[in-house]
Amino acid sequence: MGKVIAVVTQKGGVAKTTTTNALAAGYVKKGFRVLCVDMDPQRNLSFSMAADLENSATAYHILRCEVRTQFAIQHTIISDLIASSPLLSSIDLEFTGKNRQFLLKQALEPIVDQYDYILIDSPPNLGILTVNALIASDYVIIPTLSDIYSLHGLVQVHETISFIKQHDNPNLTVAGVLFTRFNPYTRLTRSLLGAAEMVCGNLEIPLFETKIRNSISLTEAQNLQFNIMEQAKHSNGAKDYMALVDELLAKGV
Ligand SMILES: Nc1ncnc2c1ncn2[C@@H]1O[C@H](COP(=O)(O)OP(=O)(O)OP(=O)(O)O)[C@@H](O)[C@H]1O
Ligand SMILES: [Mg+2]
Repeated sequence: MGKVIAVVTQKGGVAKTTTTNALAAGYVKKGFRVLCVDMDPQRNLSFSMAADLENSATAYHILRCEVRTQFAIQHTIISDLIASSPLLSSIDLEFTGKNRQFLLKQALEPIVDQYDYILIDSPPNLGILTVNALIASDYVIIPTLSDIYSLHGLVQVHETISFIKQHDNPNLTVAGVLFTRFNPYTRLTRSLLGAAEMVCGNLEIPLFETKIRNSISLTEAQNLQFNIMEQAKHSNGAKDYMALVDELLAKGV
């Protein structure tokens, strides 16, 4: 049975998409079968994986049950992918039914056994798309920057996760909080790391040992649409995300 991992936080620009992309590349490099699902109407993950954005069926179509999930899967430079569509942003208005938060879980059920890992990228809010991602998942990774606003944001995302765990998905586990764009050499970072350890301890959620350093290769890989584990495998970005894959595997994820 494939493990489903959502990359979630309501904070924008904290490397949700970067993390999904690089983790997928890392798991593939280890020989695992990986599917990514882009649940963000901005479609950044789909772009970074050089997906077909014109003619293929998307997450929108599978949520609406217009297309069977199998037929929305594309093979990309990183891994398999179900691309996003800007139409996803209207899902809040389109779906008013009682089971609207279970649409992604239901859509993934027929294909979950074809993969070792299904990674879900989510938009920067805790709306219905993110809720669908959390209900469809076994694990959640919460990326965060080393600034005080991001730490405040942790409390809010933790509340949403706890609510979903209680009501809709008791199996949901926080795999960890992940520091991204990390600069170990500043005093601010060191003091925020201490604060983050305290916040995570209070919330009883783990903080990953692995920290993702600043790495221009991560931005280049997405903008220029290449696989960081192939074309920039010696960069700090590739090394740190491979270390994250190892840490996840060691934790049984
Ligand atoms: N470790 C890193 N080093 C340098 N740049 C990074 C790193 N991680 C992410 N970035 C850059 O930061 C920007 C935001 O990253 P990304 O798009 O992954 O964030 P996001 O959380 O998915 O944003 P959004 O909330 O808009 O979906 C991008 O330009 C990305 O290339
Ligand atoms: Mg994103």
